[in-house]
Amino acid sequence: MKQLFLLLASLNIASAQTAPGHWYDHAVIYEIYPRSFQDSNGDGIGDLNGIASRLDYLKDLGVDAIWITPFFPSPNADFGYDVSDYVNVAPEYGTMQDWDHLVAEAKQRGIRILVDFVVNHTSDQHPWFKESRSSRNNPKRDWYVWKSGGGPTQPPTHWTSIFGGYTWTWDAQTEQWYYHIFLPQQPDVNWANPELRKAMFEVVRFWLDHGASGFRLDATPYLFEDPAFPEDFNPPAPGGPAALEPYNSGRPENHQVLREMRRIMDTYPGDPVLLGESSTATIEDLAKVYGRNHDEIQLPMDFLFGNLTTLDAATFKKQVDAAQLQLGGQTPVFFFSSHDHQRQWSVFGDGTHNDQIAKLTATLTLAQRGAVLLYYGEEIGMETMPAGGLKSVPVGPKRPRADDRDGERTPMQWNAGLNAGFTQGTPWLPVESNYRRYSVESEKKDPKSIYSWYWNLLKLRHDNSVFRDGSYVPLESGNPNVFAFGRTSGASDLALIVLNTSPKQQTIQITGMPGEWPQFRHILMASPQAIAPSSPKFTIAPYGVLIATTGQ
Ligand code: NOJ
Repeated sequence: MKQLFLLLASLNIASAQTAPGHWYDHAVIYEIYPRSFQDSNGDGIGDLNGIASRLDYLKDLGVDAIWITPFFPSPNADFGYDVSDYVNVAPEYGTMQDWDHLVAEAKQRGIRILVDFVVNHTSDQHPWFKESRSSRNNPKRDWYVWKSGGGPTQPPTHWTSIFGGYTWTWDAQTEQWYYHIFLPQQPDVNWANPELRKAMFEVVRFWLDHGASGFRLDATPYLFEDPAFPEDFNPPAPGGPAALEPYNSGRPENHQVLREMRRIMDTYPGDPVLLGESSTATIEDLAKVYGRNHDEIQLPMDFLFGNLTTLDAATFKKQVDAAQLQLGGQTPVFFFSSHDHQRQWSVFGDGTHNDQIAKLTATLTLAQRGAVLLYYGEEIGMETMPAGGLKSVPVGPKRPRADDRDGERTPMQWNAGLNAGFTQGTPWLPVESNYRRYSVESEKKDPKSIYSWYWNLLKLRHDNSVFRDGSYVPLESGNPNVFAFGRTSGASDLALIVLNTSPKQQTIQITGMPGEWPQFRHILMASPQAIAPSSPKFTIAPYGVLIATTGQ
């Protein structure tokens, strides 16, 4: 035992520690796309009352918080990410009373709610923008970004929007261009304007006053543009995704806004949190998003990890080590699936072993130190609906437009009944045809299902201190197909997690643990079944996953 203590004490030197004390440092945050989670009134569109009716399910699954994507009034040019009223609920999702009811019910179950705050832009139908575009002299003109350019045929710059085309739209009435990093229906607000800033911060207070436990902040890299608006094309950041360009992303001015927002948050009880959609080109840039004094976004999503699409142990190790060891001990945020990303069952599956691989990728995120985002249905292995399944669905009031992300937004698969239990009406998007096999009801009965695997992992994160807040221990497996890492809670237990991302059995030889090989007493979880490794050299099954512990 003494030897184990010494071993763990020395391991801690290299491993990343979690600062104690915040619920979100080890939270599982479950993302709900409200349109598709549960319909309560038969209109084929999910709603807040539907979410309330499923809180027992979420409690039993073990989630700490839910993040609900926008449910505010919106013309739905971008399914709610074009907000026309920040302080209300869209009729298809319910009312403010329904929100209050949801908050109260969630609170009773110890589940927090994060509101999706679209901070970079409004809808072009928002009254602020309507005023702003009404005349060049309107007091709200400067709430948005207006420029003359070279007249109607020559935009002020040739920067391209993330959704295609230039970032500028000509307004014939006032003869100027307005700026939008996304759709023309999503004009960017001007955070440099103090009145706009004040109005946005009132939105923060509104939802915190109404029981929100924080926000998922949309599109945080884009709040400011280079004030000189250089006319030339915007070169992509070196090594970064095309969408991160120096003239209009990751500007230094962002920090001040986020610090101010955080200061407001910190005046509220209950440790509210900012979860940031904070895409960065490098891990060093991601570290900066937390704020120099840890006074900005507590949970910036790690897109360097979340954008990975190849099942490859060596790449997983590289990105996990970076997140665990190069963020100055701050809390990393792991995820793969979202309303913008294809579902991980489909992305990483090889067409034959998808269920086993789903358990592997679940372990990869949920066994980490840090916060983890789950996307609704991920826990039952929902797939991205192939495009063919969506072709025949009419565009109309329920489905205002076809979106290339519709495939990952299909209705939640609750059971084998009508529309998989999602609605009594006609669902706005079709239910994926595999719903009889992949549903909450059927998988709950099967101890070997993907759902049961997730349930056990979440339980481990709650009940086992090593997985709740233990440090990360970097290890080497000696085999590029296998990712091995450790978790430890100081002087007590050590857990070993091993993931084989290849279709073949692999032999590994683990290094990185100083001293003798510890005695792993138990397998906490394994798929397929495995025995606790008694020496650093052992084999692991094709796509095998195991979690062993020195503890009880
Ligand atoms: C990121 C959101 O996640 C995405 O769905 C949306 O289209 C853009 N931001 C624009 O708001």
